[in-house]
Amino acid sequence: METLFCKVDPVDPDKKIIEKAGEIIKAGGLVAFPTETVYGLGGDAINPGASEKIYAAKGRPSDNPLIVHIAELDKLEALCKKVPDEMYKLAEVFWPGPLTMIVDKSSLVPKETTGGLDTVAIRMPDHNTALEFIKASGGYIAAPSANTSGRPSPTLASHVRTDLDGRIDMIIDGGEVGIGVESTIVDLSEGEPTILRPGYVTREMLSRVLGRVDIDTTILSGTDKKAPKAPGMKYRHYAPKGSMTLVEGQTAAVVKRINEEVAAAKAKGLKCGVLCTLETEADINADVKKCVGSRNDEAAIARSLYRVLREFDEEGAEVIFSESFKTDGFGQAVMNRLLKAAGYNVEKI
Ligand code: TXA
Ligand code: MG
Repeated sequence: METLFCKVDPVDPDKKIIEKAGEIIKAGGLVAFPTETVYGLGGDAINPGASEKIYAAKGRPSDNPLIVHIAELDKLEALCKKVPDEMYKLAEVFWPGPLTMIVDKSSLVPKETTGGLDTVAIRMPDHNTALEFIKASGGYIAAPSANTSGRPSPTLASHVRTDLDGRIDMIIDGGEVGIGVESTIVDLSEGEPTILRPGYVTREMLSRVLGRVDIDTTILSGTDKKAPKAPGMKYRHYAPKGSMTLVEGQTAAVVKRINEEVAAAKAKGLKCGVLCTLETEADINADVKKCVGSRNDEAAIARSLYRVLREFDEEGAEVIFSESFKTDGFGQAVMNRLLKAAGYNVEKI
């Protein structure tokens, strides 16, 4: 299949391109599109055949449910068995935006879209191109991140092209995304509202609206025996090809240890990559050195994280070391993705 590649102004996308994308979706095809978090791979959420195509294009296990994206609040009721009050409250504050909510699904949503579950994950992205595309497509777009299953999520259209060229109908290039890690997922389908995946919208922000909000304990631990409630969180994910280790401790000691590790790996003939920051870059020795910004700027780290993980692959890093970051606020989302990329391989000093 030939994949159409179309560049748009992300704020004011060309109407003809959006119309074309809508036609592809209505005919059961797949279109990758930018959102404020990461690029999504869209198909018609209420067409079971389209969801099956999404799984096939990504090589994704079909028990891993998709998020349904909407552009207008009046499309919400049709997707849900009942819209809980909490959902309206959160939508008012955080939509459009990087928050996905899980509720009991209506019969409109096919099980192919929800990986066999009776619940559905819904989000309204904060991105003009995404919103125009969803509206042109009938209003319900099922979309996982537009990467091959297991690889880092795409933050640039070129990442989507690398993974999915020839496997989908169209890629809409809206430039680099703004946030860089996937949306926060909160489960409203049973018990206390619970965060299943951390993101830009933090527990503190949700608590200000809802009061008590729990958090899935598997999020920052590789040793918890419980299975995570978001099926996707159980897979090794976001991972570069090289084997990755996080080093945690005081910054000066971390730099020293990383340099020792790099020297030892180089002695074995391995090509070494290091993910470092403005504060440590000058003192780090490595074959492939990638700076993600200041240690104190989680937003900058999040924005470059997946791009840098892909660059380690492109430049052939066989072993990768990274410093660790704060785990409060938005830092929790960054560390959750880094820990998964490293397969929870952490050296504490
Ligand atoms: O920011 C995002 O959320 C991006 C953009 C494209 O919107 N999408 C995204 O989708 O990250 P994906 O498929 O890569 O991740 C969706 C996660 C998976 O871990 C999946 O298991 C979980 O959401 N999920 C979806 N529906 C669920 C449900 N009904 N119950 C529990 N977890 C669910
Ligand atoms: Mg994903």
